[in-house]
Amino acid sequence: MSSVNQVYPVIWQSDASGNAPDRVLLIDQTRLPNEYAFVEISRCDDMARAIKTMIVRGAPAIGVAAAYGMYLGARELDETERDRFLAGLEGVAETLRQTRPTAVNLFWATERMLKVARQTLGSVDYLKQALLETAKQINADDIQTCQAIGGHGLSVLPTSPEKLRLLTHCNAGALATAGYGTALGVVRSAWQAERLERLYADETRPRLQGAKLTAWECVQEGIPVTVITDSMAAHCMKQGMIDAVVVGADRIAANGDAANKIGTYSVALIAKAHNVPFFVAAPLSTIDFSIADGSQIPIEERDPEEVCQVGDTILCPPGVDYYNPAFDVTPASLITAIVTEFGAFVPSQIQTELQSRKIV
Ligand code: MRU
Repeated sequence: MSSVNQVYPVIWQSDASGNAPDRVLLIDQTRLPNEYAFVEISRCDDMARAIKTMIVRGAPAIGVAAAYGMYLGARELDETERDRFLAGLEGVAETLRQTRPTAVNLFWATERMLKVARQTLGSVDYLKQALLETAKQINADDIQTCQAIGGHGLSVLPTSPEKLRLLTHCNAGALATAGYGTALGVVRSAWQAERLERLYADETRPRLQGAKLTAWECVQEGIPVTVITDSMAAHCMKQGMIDAVVVGADRIAANGDAANKIGTYSVALIAKAHNVPFFVAAPLSTIDFSIADGSQIPIEERDPEEVCQVGDTILCPPGVDYYNPAFDVTPASLITAIVTEFGAFVPSQIQTELQSRKIV
């Protein structure tokens, strides 16, 4: 596979010939790193399936995909009467909301699309067009948001050593967003500023997003990357091999507790024990001010096969039970700063700070 210059996991494709319906192209993330292939989506149900099966994954990318899913669902509605159309659109939103419970960007994006539909005056056709434009806007905005996160993240990274060794968990890169990355956006900014020596990537059992996706992204960009198993992070920190940890988030509560890929909490505990700063990089759309703390964040449980099987190989004997929570919650007290597009915040003060700056 030749290297990919710019990674856009969700692409809107208009068909100028008019022979096929306009559609969404998704990088099939279940096939990376072995194959770089796209899946065409032109129906809402197919988009919901793609989110559930993790063809598209990562909180902001799920949000972008869901926004296009809302438009595709709207396009399938025959209603020409406004109220009936809006009722149908609620059903479309519900189909998408049922896919993955933890990443709040999914709910944020569907709500934003519903709001646009409710607030736009005009014919149903006009509403549909407004929905498409909003989905495109959500997509475009996310790239700029991540670039801003990258810049703010760079400014709070330790000032010494000059060249940093960073550790990340899961994939919070271009693949997980519209095309730049949150945690990996910070890594990318550090690399561009010549402040990065190397990225360590936890493999991230059970789905291996670190080994498969983060490593693949780094190879595309020529960023030096070392993949370690999740169990090696403590040893690496004890050996003084890591200067800071940067991870993404799927949902952040008002008090700064942050849900992210399972295993993140362990990394935060290890970082605390070794005095290594631990940063969470996420857009404002990942903060859920409606919940007070992390105990209220719904944690997705996925198929046990993800734990007992690697590829076609079954790991355990018959008769074993499995538990497969896809996310865990890192308490705010273990997080050095939450880096957003509006700057870096002490987790426990993020709500009051954003309020005093009239951002929320
Ligand atoms: O289950 P996934 O692969 O969707 O989980 C992804 C993560 O946990 C990411 O770290 C998070 O969504 C942030 S992506 C910028």
